[in-house]
This record gives sequence, structure tokens and C-alpha cells, in this order.
Amino acid sequence: MAYISNIDLNVMFLSAAVRVALLALLGFSTQTDSATIPGASTVKTTTHAWSTPGGHHYQGVLSSNAVSSELCDPSVESVSGYFNITGTREAAYFYWLFESRADPRSDPLIVWLTGGPGCSSILALFVENGPCYVNEWGNGTVLNPDSWNSNANILWIDQPVGVGFSYGERADYVDGEEGVGEDLYQFLQAFFKANEKYQELAFFIFGESYGGHYAPAAGHRVWEGNQDLVQGDVYINLQGIGIGNGLTDPEIQYAYYPQMSYNNSYGIQAVDEETFNDMQDAVPTCLHLIHRCQHNGGEDFACSVAQVYCNAAIESKYVETGLNVYDIRIPCEVPGLCYDFSRVETFLQNPEVLCALGVSPKAGEWQSCNMEVNKDFRADFMKNMQDKLVPLVDSGVAVLIYAGDADFICNWYGNEAWTRALEWTGQDEFLVAEDMPWKLSDGVEAGMVRTAKGFTFLRVYGA
Ligand SMILES: *[C@@H]1O[C@H](CO)[C@@H](O)[C@H](O)[C@H]1NC(C)=O
Ligand SMILES: *[C@@H]1O[C@H](CO)[C@@H](O)[C@H](O)[C@H]1NC(C)=O
Ligand SMILES: *[C@@H]1O[C@H](CO)[C@@H](O)[C@H](O)[C@H]1NC(C)=O
Repeated sequence: MAYISNIDLNVMFLSAAVRVALLALLGFSTQTDSATIPGASTVKTTTHAWSTPGGHHYQGVLSSNAVSSELCDPSVESVSGYFNITGTREAAYFYWLFESRADPRSDPLIVWLTGGPGCSSILALFVENGPCYVNEWGNGTVLNPDSWNSNANILWIDQPVGVGFSYGERADYVDGEEGVGEDLYQFLQAFFKANEKYQELAFFIFGESYGGHYAPAAGHRVWEGNQDLVQGDVYINLQGIGIGNGLTDPEIQYAYYPQMSYNNSYGIQAVDEETFNDMQDAVPTCLHLIHRCQHNGGEDFACSVAQVYCNAAIESKYVETGLNVYDIRIPCEVPGLCYDFSRVETFLQNPEVLCALGVSPKAGEWQSCNMEVNKDFRADFMKNMQDKLVPLVDSGVAVLIYAGDADFICNWYGNEAWTRALEWTGQDEFLVAEDMPWKLSDGVEAGMVRTAKGFTFLRVYGA
């Protein structure tokens, strides 16, 4: 079992893909660095109440603290806080927002969801797409000129409950996409009520890796909420969903692990021919089990069986090679997430930093991934989520599926395959659309893009 959970842990984080995609999708700014750590100040709270069809009543309190600009990005405003849910459950979600370095009043607002399941979005902030990195000693930060807040307001949220600085009663943890979508939706309601200035901006939900589950769940819940707006709630100006190296349609994606391991665009044979054949041989059973997971009315046992079988018979063969699951070109440095995040841990355990961010002592020690949450999602793992995107893209919400082509764990072959297979009103146009070179502002060809009617697949080279 330890072996399986090791794979679970591997399964969703993300490759350097995203960093490259970021560079390209967004502009750049020109600052150098900063350091030192400041104090905290609670500003305001906003209350948002809701009821479920089952008759449960909840109250959410959103708190906002101004975060000292010295902590990370001196050029913009930054706010952190909690969304406290009380009622028949107790849960508190931590978020951290940075305003755009360009034009915060008209640039879009993005919510970022790291995968895992169980990994902290704050990790992505510090090692992937945020305004600063942690310095080599773990006692300060260095500005990231390629941060996503170059051209967007961006909010990182630690979710589901229990992840990162978020916390709650163990019995109130969420274990599937319904809970993820619902809690994120209610959080967004409270957030937009508290921050009217963001209501009119274009709003996007981005997820990576297991975020390929979260983003469709959250996006669908927002779309649903907008269709049938509860009195007093805010219409959410959802313009798009982005998924980077995501796990969205496991029933298709799991067929592509053998190819990625043995016959990929890098000419790397990570496994030998015999292992490749074993992996191929396991694919039909794996897909059959995943299929059963979809068609048993969400019967959790079938879904867990599929997860255990497929990961042991297919994915683990690659993991055993010792290569990085997020980048087939390099070794896996540290078991689990493959990268060394100790400087981020050091930084996020510093009492001054916790104070500056208004972190609750109830959150416990920050960890990059919460393995209990990861295990709770075992039955959720193999559930297909792509159908949640169909009503969105059919009604004009843009969907971008992007994948760095060196990532093994949610590889581009599988992602491209499911985007082609997706049945929606623009499928025919999508299938005949040309693969076009995707060029950066300096003219460098960095990928290949296929798009029709607001639905886009982007392969990013060398990422
Ligand atoms: C961080 O640690 C290094 C090495 O010990 C030290 O030189 C530096 O002054 C420290 N920076 C801060 C902001 O404490
Ligand atoms: C959130 O709830 C915790 C108890 O779970 C409490 O300590 C904290 O003060 C609450 N924060 C707000 C803003 O209500
Ligand atoms: C390798 O990939 C190519 C192109 O996708 C395919 O035509 C070929 O059959 C594959 N080889 C094996 C051994 O799967």
C-alpha cells in the first residue's frame, strides 16, 4: 500500500511545462529582487450565507488581511485571508491574492488550483507561477519577473479542506468533485461580494494536474449558479477555463502511458521493450475498470479498484525507472514530488511569515501535499470530468487545454486524445482544424495549437 500511495503522491503536481506556458501566455516586467519579512493587519470580514437542497444552512465568513508588499511583490497590492464555513460543518479555506502588475482594474482575475489531490496552491505560487520565489536560504523571497500577475490579478487558494494553510474538522473534509465545486463556488460568492471591484473583470479558473478534475468541477458549478442565480448572489463573469497537464478524462488518458514511456517525441525509451509490452497489455483491463467506475452510478469501490490496478500495472513501471514523472528528460531527485521544496517549507514555517499572512495556528504545519486528503480522493481519481466542460464551451466559455510535452504523468498524448474525442457542438470543426505553430512574442516556435469555437488544445515543446 505504501507503494501505491507513493504513486498517488507522484500523480499530480505539474511539470515545468506551466512555467514555459506562462512565459508565453503572459508578458513580463523588469524588477530585480527584494527580501525581509514584515507584519500583519486584519482589514475586514464579509458574510455570505447559503442553504443546500438537503436543507443544510451554512454561513461563510471571508476575512481579508493586507499583506505587506515587502513579503513578495513590492509593486502590487496583496491580500490574504480565510473563508470560514460554519453550520453543520467547520472548514476554513486559505487564499492569497496578488493584483496585476499591469492594470489591476481591467486585467482579468484568475483563480489557480494546484493538483495532488492534496497539494497546496501556495506551492505553485512559490515555485511555478507566482510573483516571487523563495531564496536559497528560505529566509526571504526573490521577485519572479515572469509571474502570472504580470497581466492578471491572481488568487491562489489552498483546497480542498486540509490542504496547505486550509483546515477543518477531519469529518468535514471533502472527498470528491461535488464538494470541491460547491465549496469553491461559495468561496467565490463571498469573495466577489467582498470585492465588488473584481465583479466586472473577466474571470478565469486555471488548474494543473489534478486540477484537471477541480477546474471542470468548479467551472461547472459557477456556470450552474449563473443559470439559476440565488437571490442576493453575484453573477460570476466566467470567461474561461484553463487546464495544464491535467487529469480530466482518465478513460482515455490512461491508454497513453506506454507510448509516453517508450515511443515519445524525445526518443527516450524510459522502459525496455518487454516492460512496454506489459504496460500495453494492461491497458484494456485498466480502461475496462475505469469505464466501470463511470457507469456504476459513482460506485466508489469500482473507482478505487481502477485506480489501484492502473497505477500498479501501468504508471508504476515508469516510476520504477527513477525518471522524473513531470519531466522524462531528468531524474526524479526526491521521492514523491521529485523536486526539493525544502526552502519553501522553511519559509512557510517562519513565524514572521505566518504572521504576515494571517495564518491560523489551527492550520498546523504547512506541507506541500496532504496525504490524507490525497487518499480521500482515491474514488474520485478515475472519474471522467471532461463532460462538465461541454455545457460551458457550448455556451461560449473558452476552454484551453495545454500540456508540456515532456511531462509523463498527465502527458500531452492523452490530453490531445481526449480533446479530440470530446463530443460538443464544435467537435467537427475542432477535428478538421489545422495544427498551427504557437509562437512567442519573439517569434520562437514554442508549441503547436489547435482551436475551434473557443476550445483549444496547446502542446508546449520542451516543457
Ligand atoms: C538569510 O540568510 C543568509 C545566510 O544565513 C543571510 O546572509 C541573510 O542575511 C539572511 N537574510 C535575511 C533577510 O534574514
Ligand atoms: C474562523 O474560524 C476559526 C475557528 O474555526 C476562528 O478561530 C477564526 O477566528 C475564524 N475567523 C473568522 C474571520 O471568522
Ligand atoms: C510509435 O509512435 C508512432 C507515431 O505515433 C507509431 O506510428 C508507432 O506505431 C509507434 N510504435 C510503437 C512500437 O508503438
